[in-house]
Amino acid sequence: MSVQTRIPKHIAIIMDGNGRWAQKRHHPRVFGHIRGASRIREIVREANRLGVKALTLYAFSTENWSRPDQELNTLWKILKKFLIREERELQAQNVCLGVIGEIERLSADVRGVLDPALERLSKNTGLKLTFAVSYGSRRELMRATALFARDCVEGKHRPEDLTEDMLEQYFWTSQLGELADVDLVIRTSGEIRVSNFMLWQAAYAEFVFADVCWPDFAPSHLRNAIEQYSQRHRRFGGVNSAPTSTSTALISKPGAANLTSAHSLPVPTPEATAKLAVSPVKKGWMT
Ligand code: FPP
Repeated sequence: MSVQTRIPKHIAIIMDGNGRWAQKRHHPRVFGHIRGASRIREIVREANRLGVKALTLYAFSTENWSRPDQELNTLWKILKKFLIREERELQAQNVCLGVIGEIERLSADVRGVLDPALERLSKNTGLKLTFAVSYGSRRELMRATALFARDCVEGKHRPEDLTEDMLEQYFWTSQLGELADVDLVIRTSGEIRVSNFMLWQAAYAEFVFADVCWPDFAPSHLRNAIEQYSQRHRRFGGVNSAPTSTSTALISKPGAANLTSAHSLPVPTPEATAKLAVSPVKKGWMT
């Protein structure tokens, strides 16, 4: 099956359910994080293949610092291993790596791996892969507000001149430029909440909640989420569908080589729409 589908420019994923996935299998929670990390490679590859421009993965929240030391240590080990193991593949795919969050809170040991990887991969021009690490949207907003206030005190701005664009320049996501706004947020594990993730940037995003845990989230689930996104009408508070933040592509089965980009407005065929209307989601998905 192939459907002409609108591809969101920026997808952000809340990779949830690692702990539950592991506990269900009578493994320690960290086993879920290990399996979860190995999922990232396939999802990045698929996002790239489909023509997604930016992919942001919620890897560690400001609230996650309260987890037991043992779990924290393992998470940092996993992050380091991931960077060491995947750098070559990310380079080969021309992936531009970035991080948002309070990276100054990370240990010198983690920074010792992260910083050089960022340095080497941040010049790439392909998919912008961003890890949200020690990230919290409220923290990002507070920080931006404080930085703006400081600039006002220093005479660089006046409070009355503040615009949305100006405030956005102080967000961690400013590194994403015009891609900072999120088109599609996916959360795995069946939980239906945003958990302090990109509250500003996702103001007009579409949300898809998948009831598979992150270690089971496969490229087919990503395609399914994109298909759901593609069927929705984004109005941005207005009255017309405004698919301005998308490109179109032909979503094909894995392995199929044909992936085309089109520049016309995407109009799903009636047959495709009818098919999706009957069965919009695969088994195991929440609507
Ligand atoms: C949520 O599951 C997941 C996390 C807090 C960490 C996500 C981390 C990874 C996928 C691996 C490491 C990341 C990188 C960037 C290599 P949870 O533990 O809250 O699961 P639960 O809700 O079932 O308890």
